[in-house]
Amino acid sequence: MGRFYITTPIFYVNDVPHLGHAYCAVNADAIARWHRGLGDETLFLTGTDEHGAKVAESAEKHSMSPADWTDRTSERFQEAWRTLNISNDDFIRTTEARHYSTVQTFLQRIYDNGYIVKDTYKGLYCISCEDYYTTEALVGGRCPVHLCDVVEMEEDNYFFRLSAFEDRLLEWYESAPDAIAPFAKRNEALSFIKGGLKDVSITRTSLTWGVPVPWDSSHVFYVWYDALINYLTAIGYGTDDEKVATWWPHVHHLIGKEIIRFHCVWWPAMCMAAGIEPPSNIFVHGWLLVGGSKLSKSMAADEDSPVKLTDITPASLTEDFGVDAVRYHLLRETPLGSDGDFSIGALASRYNSDLANNLGNLVARVATVVGSKCGGVGPCPDPESPLAEAAAAAVSGAADAWEKFAPHEALEATWRLIGATNAELEATSPWKAEPGSVDNVLGSALEVLRIVALLISAAMPATADEIWQRIGLSGSPASELLPGAAAWGGYPGGLTVIKGDPLFPRRK
Ligand code: MSP
Repeated sequence: MGRFYITTPIFYVNDVPHLGHAYCAVNADAIARWHRGLGDETLFLTGTDEHGAKVAESAEKHSMSPADWTDRTSERFQEAWRTLNISNDDFIRTTEARHYSTVQTFLQRIYDNGYIVKDTYKGLYCISCEDYYTTEALVGGRCPVHLCDVVEMEEDNYFFRLSAFEDRLLEWYESAPDAIAPFAKRNEALSFIKGGLKDVSITRTSLTWGVPVPWDSSHVFYVWYDALINYLTAIGYGTDDEKVATWWPHVHHLIGKEIIRFHCVWWPAMCMAAGIEPPSNIFVHGWLLVGGSKLSKSMAADEDSPVKLTDITPASLTEDFGVDAVRYHLLRETPLGSDGDFSIGALASRYNSDLANNLGNLVARVATVVGSKCGGVGPCPDPESPLAEAAAAAVSGAADAWEKFAPHEALEATWRLIGATNAELEATSPWKAEPGSVDNVLGSALEVLRIVALLISAAMPATADEIWQRIGLSGSPASELLPGAAAWGGYPGGLTVIKGDPLFPRRK
């Protein structure tokens, strides 16, 4: 048992929550839930990123003040996360007073340490990225990420002396080779550093929608500079040193691949400049795409693509397939770290094969036969069952996989156990046998369901609770301590097993 602090990036409120955002939130949620199951003291943080030109522009477009607009859109993220059963312990909004105060304390320290200086900056700026690009980095004269026009900006700004941290960052990468994962993404970040670091402009005078610079009230901080600090605001930086000492050494940032430079280069350097340790772990995930299209954010419309991933709201899918099926698909289909293609067809086919035919069928079958052959009372498992070995393999496979941020592998391991149990039932056909002779096989199948409920509780919490109750257990699998609780033999027998409706009715 230990401590585990996991964060998602904070989501821009210029946009409404879409499936790409949900992919990130569901993965972080499942990993947080797994750690709670291990008994780790866990803190799971998500939130909304509410400053900057992009948000101010969105507010203006909707004829609203930035404050009203951010209130409305932040609430839409909170609502989406409630729908998806996201179990965040805190939700940070960068417009909160606690964040202003942490940002000002943190950046004042960097200023006092001599790493923030005043200078003039001229460059090509993409409002969607909230970032400057060199001419060489543009694609056909446009932003390489959003393919939109960039604007020429000249500002008298304060600069963070990122260039002063080149050597210290290289040393950190060397000394903590696992801090950034997967390895290919770590190398990508490393090559930015090896390519040479320039100082970064971190304040704006052209905007008022931001956190005021404490030593110069004519400037506000550049949105990325305030945003990254949210990870410290939530643990009381500047007001509660003990809380920072408790959580900061255990932080895990889950981020998308397009924000590597901010998190893996700027952020560790900012931490060093303020005199704290860089984040202990950053895990980079890929993008969900549709039809191979890279449209992942608020980009130019693609005439050829009938649907953009950003047009798919999590609620439109959960209404059709149910919350746990959507969570399962997001976790199972696209390995964390790779890009993945999303389609309704693939979701429907995984729903039918994995959920209706395998898991749903197993639950229904076992409950039906316990009803007809055992009077609805579950027998004890067989200590010698061949399924005991399959269960042990599933438990250790799942535990290893969750530990390395591989939910798809954890679910694969669990579904191998479900498959083996369905096969065992086919082979022994307890529905054809005499009542007295089926106790071992049915008790073992019930034990598998108990273990499966424990193993899927992080991914599909409501389904896990439902299975738990149907096999007669009280409480919730989420309150059991893993992996010990998943050892073979925990099903006590003598409990009433309920048949219930199909967990996942087959879809056409
Ligand atoms: N506000 C910044 C993050 C600041 S963190 C200090 C931001 N916000 S975002 O709303 O644009 O993106 C938030 C996260 O959603 C990113 O990690 C991004 O990768 C993820 N996704 C947005 N579209 C996505 C897909 N199509 N697929 C998977 N994740 C994607 O960047």
